[in-house]
Amino acid sequence: MIRFSRTAALAGLVAFAATGLVQPANAAGGGVHIERQDWSFSGPFGLFDQAQLQRGFQVYENVCKSCHGMERIRFRNLAEPGGPGFDVERLKALAANWPIQTVDGPNDDGDMYERPPLLSDAIPAPFKNEKQARATHNGAYPVDLSLIAKARNPEYTGSVWWHPIQMLKDIVTGYQEGGADYLYALLTGYREDAPAYRRDDKGHLKPISENEAESSDEESFERCAGVVHGEKGTKDVCIPLQDGMNYNAAFPGHQIAMVQPLDDGVVDYAKTEAGDPVVPETKEQYARDVAAFLSWAADPTHDQRKRLGWQVLLYLLITTLLLFIAKKQIWSRIKH
Ligand code: HEC
Repeated sequence: MIRFSRTAALAGLVAFAATGLVQPANAAGGGVHIERQDWSFSGPFGLFDQAQLQRGFQVYENVCKSCHGMERIRFRNLAEPGGPGFDVERLKALAANWPIQTVDGPNDDGDMYERPPLLSDAIPAPFKNEKQARATHNGAYPVDLSLIAKARNPEYTGSVWWHPIQMLKDIVTGYQEGGADYLYALLTGYREDAPAYRRDDKGHLKPISENEAESSDEESFERCAGVVHGEKGTKDVCIPLQDGMNYNAAFPGHQIAMVQPLDDGVVDYAKTEAGDPVVPETKEQYARDVAAFLSWAADPTHDQRKRLGWQVLLYLLITTLLLFIAKKQIWSRIKH
């Protein structure tokens, strides 16, 4: 028995080391470190903040909808519990005045036609198909945002040995907000220009500060969206930002076709009676709110599921107690 548990422990240790050893191949993929944020919906007890979801939808409506559709969210979903919970009448008016039309048909003549969306319609995309979308966006495709919070998850970039421990921690704390963390980092990750690097005698590119770049001669440094380190004896290669692309610290490869969509003050939030905004009208706040909204859109039954989960656990706990008492009762009649 002792021998068996020793073998098991050894196997466990080998498996543990193997997970550690396998990881560097992934890490070499150039993963970007994504900072984790505090979300109201994180952890086993966390639920969405309705006011935040409403603000997040407002950001989507004011800014993102002109390029991105949300084909898996119907207008009526925005009234359902666990989501933004808008008033149905308000939503009817919102859908009727939505500037992007829904394609319906065929009509009696066999033609498709456009009409304003109804509550039962999906939030339409502002283009007819992917080809048209790419044609108007320099070849890039503004993806549908319904499931984007689930479709993106940051790569682990920490130490190889810490990875299994981090995975365990994430299981225990129920970490599922990788998509929201990424969206926040993406929307706040724009820089005016790619970072500056100076080449040393050996041809290695060393990052320099923005202050240093501004005060130096333009010829003396290079701006690179990415750097490929040369093998022994060869120079590093600078990957410049391409025309029509924007530098983004969070986007893989750091070159994104989407122009920075958010900036301070671009959306008017509800004001208090004194006329101050309830939450700050900053790029960071908008990014946080729209990331929360997109997290809900990708998982609309999130709150319901968590509540039900706890109810089931409570039910099972009470049942266990009852069964335990019953067992004591029944077996108490038997003499030892
Ligand atoms: C002017 C049009 C435009 C607006 C406005 C816009 N986007 Fe984009 N977005 C794009 C394009 C184009 C891409 C594709 C970028 C690429 O592939 O390089 C994109 C890509 C994305 C992606 C995918 C990034 C990835 O990891 O693949 C997300 C997420 C996104 N946008 C979110 C938003 C949000 C949220 C807003 C509103 C705050 C918004 N966008 C507003 C044009 C836009």
